[in-house]
Amino acid sequence: MSFEKNILCIGAGYVGGPTMAMIAHKCPQYRVTVVDIDPERIAQWNSDDLPIYEPGLVEIVKAARGRNLFFSTEVEEGIKESEIIFVSVNTPTKTFGAGAGMAADLQYWDKTARQIRKHSESNKIIVEKSTLPVKTAQAMERILTSADNGIRFDVLSNPEFLAEGTAIKDLEDPDRVLIGSTQTREGLKARDVLVEIYSNWIRAERIITSNIWSSELSKLVANAFLAQRISSINSISALCEKADADVEEVARAVGMDSRVGSRFLSASVGFGGSCFKKDILNLVYLCRYYDLKEVADYWEGVVKINDYQKERFILNMLNIMFNTLANKRICLFGFAFKADTGDTRESPAIFVAKRLIEEKAKVVITDPKALKNAMKDLRDVAGEISYVEDPYEASAGCSAIAVMTEWKIYGDLDYKKIYRSMAKPAFIFDGRNILDHEKLFKIGFNVFPIGKPGLTHF
Ligand code: UDX
Ligand code: ADP
Repeated sequence: MSFEKNILCIGAGYVGGPTMAMIAHKCPQYRVTVVDIDPERIAQWNSDDLPIYEPGLVEIVKAARGRNLFFSTEVEEGIKESEIIFVSVNTPTKTFGAGAGMAADLQYWDKTARQIRKHSESNKIIVEKSTLPVKTAQAMERILTSADNGIRFDVLSNPEFLAEGTAIKDLEDPDRVLIGSTQTREGLKARDVLVEIYSNWIRAERIITSNIWSSELSKLVANAFLAQRISSINSISALCEKADADVEEVARAVGMDSRVGSRFLSASVGFGGSCFKKDILNLVYLCRYYDLKEVADYWEGVVKINDYQKERFILNMLNIMFNTLANKRICLFGFAFKADTGDTRESPAIFVAKRLIEEKAKVVITDPKALKNAMKDLRDVAGEISYVEDPYEASAGCSAIAVMTEWKIYGDLDYKKIYRSMAKPAFIFDGRNILDHEKLFKIGFNVFPIGKPGLTHF
């Protein structure tokens, strides 16, 4: 069968996999191939056990796979055969050299650009999907055109705004799709090709275009604004705990102002995920590079409050549990950075688990989807850590439960049964404010939510 377009995506991760599955699902007339250098990942994409958990993903992958959606390790061949290449490789924070701990590590991305240049035999549109520092598209264009082999590359920026756990919904019905291009005739022509792809299922008014740098910057700024809301409410949660106010009541009152809006105001143990911290630090690095110290400091504050919130959570536990956690069994309810995903990147649970081990506590971790990743995250930590799928079994014999992830199942458990099985006095630290605190208190627990007075029997 011949297809209208051959689309390639380099990088079969949390962004590339679901995004390409959605394009293949919505556009049977296109052939979509996703390649990755990691053969294990590709094997998983070709199996029933996908490498990532996302509600609704497996259904659309299974329907399109082998029809117009293909997963492969043949990067070279994929490059040769495609007219449009999405680049969706990882761009973690640099851990070495200049900008370590701040700037994006562009080695995978740089390598990809060189691979594309080497194996291309015809003109291509390159779509930057990974979140990248501003002006990366320009750098990519320079690498690509440096071969001077007569092949034309037009680079577009098309940041992905999907959130994990709701990726399929976000891809199917996005608030907006943003496409940045150079404003030349060729750049605008390439942009229109990408607009046409998205137009297969997204209304025209939701597809917005801009210059390439605005597009790159918008992604960093969108994440910085979202994270800033969480740090803002988390900073207020600390004040509420001191001042006997209730952060949920405050958030409700503030969020009902339509200028503020009610979403993303849930106080928590801190935000996690692969994007927020990385993108803010990227923004901070960019501001420092341009000598905008005040601007850089302002945004860095968002990350600092998040670190403070996580540390505050541990210090609260320590203080409330009679200033020692040594040898106490503490159960973490959830390890994923949010509900409905198995992803644990930058999860506050990693920090909390490590700090508990430093305090010589015995840590029991339960999570419906993230135990494998939790084991990887903590493999180098010397201490007593166990991983138990069943929350009842996990919490039995523990002195405290700390809710790390807002999985719905944790709201539906039989806490009378859990209370009976725990060491006394029994504590619950609800790092997500998802439980019925009054009810737990009546059962006998000492309950400590975020940003509200604790309920204690002594
Ligand atoms: C984020 C952006 O939302 C998305 O647009 C972007 O493309 C990638 O980064 P993601 O990291 O997948 O998505 O999840 P998100 O829902 O934004 O949650 C991030 C973190 O903030 C999670 O740890 C979550 O639990 C926490 N959070 C979120 C809060 O603590 N309180 C809130 O009110 C909302
Ligand atoms: P994201 O959350 O941005 O999607 P992931 O880490 O989940 O990031 O996915 C990025 C993927 O890109 C990984 O599976 C990695 O193996 C892949 N990758 C990195 N460099 C290359 C490359 N040069 N060619 C193909 N795939 C690559």
